[in-house]
Amino acid sequence: MNVLVTGVAGFIGSNFVYYYLSNHPDISVIGLDNLSYAGNLDNLSFIPREQKERFSFIKADITDTDQIQMVFEEYPVDGVINMAAETHVDRSIHDPHPFLKTNILGTFVLLEAARRSWLKKGIWKKEVKFLQVSTDEVYGSLGPTGFFTETSPLDPHSPYSASKASADHIVRAYHDTYGLPVNITRCSNNYGPYQFPEKLIPLTVNNALHHLQIPVYGDGKQVRDWLYVEDHCRAIDLVFGKGLSGGLYNIGGNNEQENITIVKLVLSRLKDLTGDKRINDDLITFVKDRAGHDRRYAIDASKIRRELGWRHIVLFEEGIDRTVRWYLDHQDWTAKVISGEYFDFYKKIYQLN
Ligand code: NAD
Ligand code: DAU
Repeated sequence: MNVLVTGVAGFIGSNFVYYYLSNHPDISVIGLDNLSYAGNLDNLSFIPREQKERFSFIKADITDTDQIQMVFEEYPVDGVINMAAETHVDRSIHDPHPFLKTNILGTFVLLEAARRSWLKKGIWKKEVKFLQVSTDEVYGSLGPTGFFTETSPLDPHSPYSASKASADHIVRAYHDTYGLPVNITRCSNNYGPYQFPEKLIPLTVNNALHHLQIPVYGDGKQVRDWLYVEDHCRAIDLVFGKGLSGGLYNIGGNNEQENITIVKLVLSRLKDLTGDKRINDDLITFVKDRAGHDRRYAIDASKIRRELGWRHIVLFEEGIDRTVRWYLDHQDWTAKVISGEYFDFYKKIYQLN
């Protein structure tokens, strides 16, 4: 099987490629990415030599109809896993345009190219699959209790989550209207290697190592459900391989944590590992809250457990330890990916807070 994986040079994309190639010797991956600020080819440089012949990379933009059509003409694509997206909520607040373009239009371009190509080649229905990697943020915010299930209403609040919810609707429409075999996965917050340092955990590590303040939004008591990235990759693999056509699956770590707890945990682990006494809670600075900030996410992942036998494997303490060690050992990676553009972004976002 030849699977087109988009967003392959990003955080989850690169982790997924390592996982997928190692676990499926019969599958070839066509990796696609436009190498935006968040996409970095270095993230893919550790594919083992014996697996490289099953991996090809294409630099292309999912919003570019001609480029995407060409990919479907030139490669024998019989599955798509769409991870390409603009992903950072704060950026979406400051400039929604790229989010609406990539996340909505880009998803449509991929769906339409897949539909036309698979119809033309006569490999329709059972032999093909389109998986949309979505997010728990489409459900909006919870009060102090309860969980998002697959039947919770969509109630997105940020331009990012609204764009992902729109894409989910379009994916479903392609299933209901054209019978395209699709799945949608909605996962909670991932953490692990190769996450761009604008996100909470790698930002905390990087700022702490430079003794810079750690900006915590509002009271820091917002709750997220954290899942180690490899567990998410395994879930995507399972849904892509075994999920019922049209099926929607929530994915989560059953691991709700307040943001302030996460920051303190990362600082404490980092302090232990470096012995640097200047890394401590005094670096924490409470700043103005994110606009429209969702208070609490919590995922009910019982459907994927029941139907596909998935459950998370990496325990939170173990995952945080692995993650902090990875960023500590890869400070050159962080330095490289935070270009001038990152500093402009950082100044813009945090000066406004
Ligand atoms: P990321 O920002 O690290 O990576 C996104 C990748 O998509 C980058 O490599 C980027 O270059 C690429 N990309 C962006 N626009 C593109 C375009 N127009 N054409 C081609 N490539 C483009 O994000 P991530 O955290 O790896 O997220 C991957 C997917 O998983 C996204 O769809 C996101 O919504 C979803 N998701 C993420 C999380 C999380 O916690 N990180 C949780 C649930 C779902
Ligand atoms: O829930 C899944 C989502 O998780 C994905 O769909 C998104 O693509 C991904 O970016 C992530 O979104 P969040 O907004 O939850 O991630 P982020 O790391 O930006 O923020 C995590 C929490 O920490 C959130 O409540 C905001 C807060 N935060 C974040 C940053 C960057 C801070 O308090 N300070 C910060 O500097």
